Amino acid sequence: MFSQFRQDFPTLDTENPPVYLDNACMTLRPKPVIEAIKSYYEQSPGCGGRSVHRYATTVSRKMMDCRKKMAELFNARESNEIIFTKNATHSLNQVAKGLSWEKGDVVLTTDREHNSNLVPWLQLEEEQGIDHRVIKSNDDNTFNLENFENACAEAGSSLKMVSLSHVGNLDGIATPVKEATKIAKDFGALVCIDGAQSTPHMKVDVQDLGIDFMAFSIHKMMGPSGMGGLWGRMDLLEGMRSIQSGGSTVDTSHYDSLTWSKPPARFEGGLGNYAGILGTSAAIDYISKIDLDAVHEHEVSLNRVMTSILKDVNGLRIIGPEDPAQRGGICSILLDNIDAHDIAILLDEAAGVMVRSGMHCVHSWFNAKGIDRGSLRASAYLYNTEDEVKLFADTLVEAVEALG
Ligand SMILES: Cc1ncc(COP(=O)(O)O)c(C=O)c1O
Repeated sequence: MFSQFRQDFPTLDTENPPVYLDNACMTLRPKPVIEAIKSYYEQSPGCGGRSVHRYATTVSRKMMDCRKKMAELFNARESNEIIFTKNATHSLNQVAKGLSWEKGDVVLTTDREHNSNLVPWLQLEEEQGIDHRVIKSNDDNTFNLENFENACAEAGSSLKMVSLSHVGNLDGIATPVKEATKIAKDFGALVCIDGAQSTPHMKVDVQDLGIDFMAFSIHKMMGPSGMGGLWGRMDLLEGMRSIQSGGSTVDTSHYDSLTWSKPPARFEGGLGNYAGILGTSAAIDYISKIDLDAVHEHEVSLNRVMTSILKDVNGLRIIGPEDPAQRGGICSILLDNIDAHDIAILLDEAAGVMVRSGMHCVHSWFNAKGIDRGSLRASAYLYNTEDEVKLFADTLVEAVEALG
């Protein structure tokens, strides 16, 4: 359905392309993104927002354009609500460590968060005495709204923050963010979402969701490595400390005082990743032209193919609900007696299939379940085809039958 897009991706536009199914980790990049990165070094290698020569003003203008496009994509109220960061981890750390907390303040997350939305809160618990609590999911890993509401009620007026993955990287399950946000707001809490796995695959409207912050990864949206973003409500950003201070973060400084810059500059200390920002701009152009609802449908249809081949095989268990419609493009598989890394290497060597193996930075979930082998995760995107996911699933079945 999206096969015409394959020619845009140099690694797929070859005689013998690999089967790339590690998109939840990082997507491939289309030619316009690569060209935009090159164009920075070849045409305007300047320092945005500082010098006033031609190179620098070109970069400053492109940075403004990029912020504007991102604000439009997520329906932010203004482009200055978009902060360029290194990755979603950086963005979540900025929220956790940039806000002020008191001992006993309650922060809720789910029991299936990426370390990026768990470790900063655990760190605050250790260092500042916040009270981090975990909402238990249903047995099939779907979000339990009742458990969530009860956890909010139990925390009462101590509830200050609810920080939730929008879509889980472990299993592809989406959180009903809008409903959860309504509940959290009744208790006066802030809501932050980890949009690393939602923004590449679905239309995300931050105003419609009613949330306060959203972290996202550009390298999962066909953009450059080392680029991410944070969206925040301007009134909250205005009161937030930067976790990095130095050049750009102040309007002026004296030997004994300073004036902080307004957002977003306050949060973008030091020389920026300008090539990355130009590449991001091209990635946002690219993704904005795609019907993300159709991408989601395509991913689910590929997941149906994988699931139907794998669901009844002895020695395999798919994490999450059996219905692929609830897991998007992610098929994450527990293997009874075989190491997931061994199978991942075998898949690449025997069939040119690239998947992710291990705990996917969701160690807490595996540890709580006593699973020490991790899982094998195939994650599809718009350029993947039915033949590719069939090859993955058939090769996996053969490997499990031979080794299990
Ligand atoms: C759900 C989720 N949150 C956060 C992250 C971290 O993203 P980044 O690598 O951009 O820091 C990832 C990366 O896999 C993720 O899947």
